[in-house]
Order: sequence, then C-alpha cells, then structure tokens
Amino acid sequence: MSRVDVAIAGELNLDLILYGLPQELPLEKELLASRFIMTLGSSSAILAHNLASLGLGVIFAGQVGADSFGKIAVEYLRSAGVDVSRVVENGDGIPTGVTVVLPHDSGRRILTYPGTIELLAVSDLDIDALASARHLHLSSLFLQTGLHRGLPDLLTTLKSRGVTISLDTNDDPSGHWDGVLTEVLPLIDILLPNREEVCRIAGRDTVAEALKVLSSKVPLIVVKCGADGALVQNRGNLTSVLPILVDAVDSIGAGDSFNAGFLAAWLHGQSPEESARAGNITGALSTTQAGGVQAFLRTPERDAFLNRHHFPEIRLAAETLQT
Ligand SMILES: Nc1ncnc2c1ncn2[C@@H]1O[C@H](COP(=O)(O)OP(=O)(O)OP(=O)(O)O)[C@@H](O)[C@H]1O
Ligand SMILES: [Mg+2]
Repeated sequence: MSRVDVAIAGELNLDLILYGLPQELPLEKELLASRFIMTLGSSSAILAHNLASLGLGVIFAGQVGADSFGKIAVEYLRSAGVDVSRVVENGDGIPTGVTVVLPHDSGRRILTYPGTIELLAVSDLDIDALASARHLHLSSLFLQTGLHRGLPDLLTTLKSRGVTISLDTNDDPSGHWDGVLTEVLPLIDILLPNREEVCRIAGRDTVAEALKVLSSKVPLIVVKCGADGALVQNRGNLTSVLPILVDAVDSIGAGDSFNAGFLAAWLHGQSPEESARAGNITGALSTTQAGGVQAFLRTPERDAFLNRHHFPEIRLAAETLQT
C-alpha cells in the first residue's frame, strides 16, 4: 500500500482579519475597519490546505468544537482534498479556537482564543494513521499544550516506523521557549523557524550563533526571513536562498505557505536548498492575497505564478494541469 505524503496533528481554527484599524485602539470608541475577511487560520491547517492544494496527500488529525466555526474550518480542508476523517468534535462544549488579526502598516496584532486548540492530546491520535504517512509535521507547539504529554514517545515511535518529522514552533506566548521543546528537538529532521524564533529556541542573540548551537541537534534547519528569503543550515553548510520579488498584500500564513512549498519539494526528492527555493515561491505566492489560503485556490493565476517562478515539477493537483 503506498503511503500518504504528510500527516499533520494540529490546530484548526478560523482567522478573522480586520484591515485598516488604527494602530492605537482607544477604549469605549467604535473603531471601523476598512476591510474584513474570514478565512482558514492556524498554522497547521493552513499548511495542510496548501500542501493538498499543491497535490500532496494529507491526513489531518485535530479537534474542533461542535459549532459552526469548527464546521467551516473543516470544510476548508475537505474542499482542498485533505483527509479530515481524524478530526474530532469536542463533546464537552468547548468552542473552536479563533484568531483575530489586525494588520497595521508596521506589523500586526494577533489575538487568539485557543478553545479546542489546547485540548488535542496524544491519546486522541490514531498512531497507525499517522504512521501511514511518509512525513509528520507539527506546528504551533506552544499553543498545543495538550499535545505535550507523550509527544516525545509518539515521535520516537513514528521515527522507528520510518516517518520523517518537521517542526515549526511559531511563537511561544509564554516567552519561555523550553519544556517539551528540549525533548522534541533531537527527534526532529527539519526545523522551520523564522529569524526571531531560531534565536529564541537557541537562546542566542544572532541567527548565526543560534544556527551554530542548533545544528548539532537538528540535521536540517531552514530559517524563514520574510522579504529576504530563507537560510538553509544543512548540517555544516549554510546557504542563503534568494527571495521572489512580489507586491505583498499581507504576510498572514506566509510562513506556513513556505513550509508547504518546502515540504512538497523535499518529499519529491529535491535538495534542501532547492526545496527552500520552492518554499520562497509558495511563501511569496501567499503574500499576493489576503489570509493564508486564498492564493492557493486552484486558479489559472496561481498556476501561472508557480510556472513563472519554475516551481518544481511536483505532482500538482490534476485539475490544475489542464490550465
Ligand atoms: N514581502 C515578501 N516578499 C517575498 N517573499 C516573502 C515576503 N514575505 C514573506 N515571504 C516569503 O514567505 C516566507 C515566510 O515568511 P516569514 O518569514 O514572514 O515567516 P513567518 O514569520 O514564519 O510567518 P508566519 O507569520 O506565517 O508564521 C519567507 O521566507 C519568504 O519566502
Ligand atoms: Mg511562522
């Protein structure tokens, strides 16, 4: 039986994005946004959606509340072709999490109610289903607190069954950057942080110092550098991979979209440096539309973008090949 490409055990919620609000938010005043979208949020789910939209086989294991936000989030994944048979509804009345994003000129505010995000536990996971994939990805380690207990054992088991593992911690809202991370790092094949995160994970002030510390623990580290592209620390070798020039609309989900292009190329046998080039293409693609998944819908514009930038010849979803 052939293995599915990627399993993701992760968070699943919607993003409510309000553009054009003032940087200062005074109390007791009605503040008007100039534009609003509701779209799929959460790092794990955006990655799952975008990987499937690129034609990879993806299984998603997660938990939502028994509410309409949960149903909408699952429908985003289903319509992209993700196997959602391992997404369960919470039976205790805990609602689906939600993230409100306020993009400003100089950065963005990100306000998250975790809801069911922090409830997914290793004991809820079907290990055989995860082991049926070639690769497991974990995102937002510090939001998924319910997953911490038993995670090192789970990863050890999956590795022994031939599954490779990647991790994108994203931010740690507590600012501690420790706990389960210390145990998990040596079990990871690929670490996918941004510049700030790699420094915090290593406890160092510069990316160069951080990579020096971490490269003895993780064989492949790919640092996302926003409009500067990416750095690849492949064991002893450090390579800078140039960005794609785009008119960015917003960077929501760019990191997860980078992960999608990177993993798609890597799982199709491309080198880490070539895979980072693919990640730069999908990261840049993500910035051309609002939110994290809109740019990945299978449109002629998306495929023209991927072709123009010579996205590797991976198995793009069948219907896109006709355009
Ligand atoms: N303005 C931009 N121009 C071109 N490429 C971009 C731009 N912004 C982001 N990217 C691409 O997207 C990748 C990921 O972006 P970024 O470094 O913002 O990740 P991140 O901080 O992890 O994002 P997220 O907030 O989604 O977690 C970059 O490495 C780059 O390839
Ligand atoms: Mg990120």
